[in-house]
Order: sequence, then C-alpha cells, then structure tokens
Amino acid sequence: MSTLVTIQQLTKHIGTTEQRLLFEKVNASVDEGERIAVLGASGQGKSTLLRILSLLDVPDGGDILWQGTSYLDSDPRTWRMRMSYVAQQPIMLAGSVEDNLKTVHYLHRTPYDSNLAGRLLAGVGLEGLDIHKRASDLSGGEKQRIALIRSIMLRPKVLLLDEVTASLDRTNAKLVEQQLTEWSKQEGISLVWVTHDQDQARSFSTTTWFMGEQTLLERQPTSLFFAHPHSELARQYILRPAPEADKENTCPSSH
Ligand SMILES: Nc1ncnc2c1ncn2[C@@H]1O[C@H](COP(=O)(O)OP(=O)(O)OP(=O)(O)O)[C@@H](O)[C@H]1O
Ligand SMILES: [Mg+2]
Repeated sequence: MSTLVTIQQLTKHIGTTEQRLLFEKVNASVDEGERIAVLGASGQGKSTLLRILSLLDVPDGGDILWQGTSYLDSDPRTWRMRMSYVAQQPIMLAGSVEDNLKTVHYLHRTPYDSNLAGRLLAGVGLEGLDIHKRASDLSGGEKQRIALIRSIMLRPKVLLLDEVTASLDRTNAKLVEQQLTEWSKQEGISLVWVTHDQDQARSFSTTTWFMGEQTLLERQPTSLFFAHPHSELARQYILRPAPEADKENTCPSSH
C-alpha cells in the first residue's frame, strides 16, 4: 500500500502570553485506504493535530509531506482537496441543505452529483430530510452528517474526521460508521478519525494512534493496540469506561 502522508517530528505549542507544549516528536504515516482511529484523553491535541494536517493551524516544528512533498511547498487549496477536515463542531454555510452540498463543488470547480448526494444521505439515515430546508435549522446531529457528506462528495484521498458521530444516537452513529467504512473500502479513501468511542474504534479502524504524554505515544494495528498496549497510560485508557471517563482530564475550551 502506498504512503500518502508522512508526519515528521511535528511539534505544537499553545497559549498567547505563556506558551506551553501541546505535543512534540509526532511521527506517523497514513497509507492509502488505511483507517486510523485517533484516541486519547481530552486536551491531548487530537483536534489540533487534525487541524494542522488540513493546514487550518500551523505547527511550530516538523513537517508534513504529501507523497514526499512538504506542505510548505504545496498549494493549500490543492492540499485541502486531497485531505478534508470535518470539524467537531459542524459549520453550515448560508442557505439550504442542498446549497451546502453544492457550494463546495462550486468553490472547488468540481461537478455536483445529485445521485451520489441522495445515496449518501440515505446511507447516514437522512433519506427523509428535505434538502430545501434551511441548513441553520437542522439539529446538531443532522448538521454533523451534512458536513460529513459535504466533505465526502469532494472525494478527498484522506478524510480527517473529528468526533463526527458525537451528536448521534447509537443507531445513526453505527450507520455513519458503516457508510464511512464502505466508502473507504470502495474508493480506497483513508480515514483519520478522532473518537472517544472505543467500540467504534475497534470496529472501523485498521490502525490506532494513541495520544498521551505530549506526543503520539502509540501507533499500532488496532487489534494489537487493544490486546497489548505498550504503555501503562494506554492500558489504563482502555480499561476506563468510554466515553465520559475521558472528561476527567478535560482541559477547558478544547475544540
Ligand atoms: N488556538 C488555540 N489557542 C489556545 N489554546 C488552544 C488552541 N487550540 C487548542 N488549544 C488548547 O489545546 C489543548 C488541546 O486541544 P484539542 O482541541 O486539540 O484537544 P483534543 O485532544 O481534541 O480534546 P477533546 O478530546 O476534548 O476534543 C486544549 O487545552 C485547548 O484548549
Ligand atoms: Mg477534540
């Protein structure tokens, strides 16, 4: 399998007046079609890492390469078409649901496929949704799924997913998980998916990244990670009931 993304020695500090280290020496890669679960307690920098990967935030050190070319030598627009970020808090554009799905195609100058939109809506449990409805009127869970479909339809090579089923009930979360896994297998799309749901991680992912101790502490095939975590921190994490347990270490205003 070919490597799409290589992360080298990535470092990030946060804070305006006083800087503190969020993470350092993050090394990893994303292969074509690989499905990665990103785990770790709240405030470890999982969202920040995804935002950096999609060039919505900047690292303080290290590099990210797309098939060998540094982000510093790449056009950000092209970069984001290959790697698309779906935020923890979905942002709806003005207008209807359909406008939301179409606008990105207009911006990226790619054709809009209404059949695909219909299939994806049905796939995530939104077959009954009126696409002429104002997007701002949607529920949190509906917004999350529309934001997801909006990104999938741009056919990026890598989907960066930030807790995209957090506002959904179990049934719909499972539907989304199945849809994403199917899409990944069918189209060879890689997923880098932050989740606090360990059952979900076990079920969709081939690889697990575990963030802790201000770095990417573990990177293992998912079955191995859950059976034999290398670190005591990961062992404790796996033993704790998910997802509420993570909130014990919550840092305020995490994204
Ligand atoms: N732009 C920023 N300015 C200041 N602090 C920030 C910024 N972005 C993130 N942080 C802080 O960095 C830390 C990590 O945030 P991040 O959202 O990446 O964590 P996370 O692992 O995704 O947590 P959660 O699981 O709760 O979503 C938090 O303490 C957050 O408040
Ligand atoms: Mg987060």
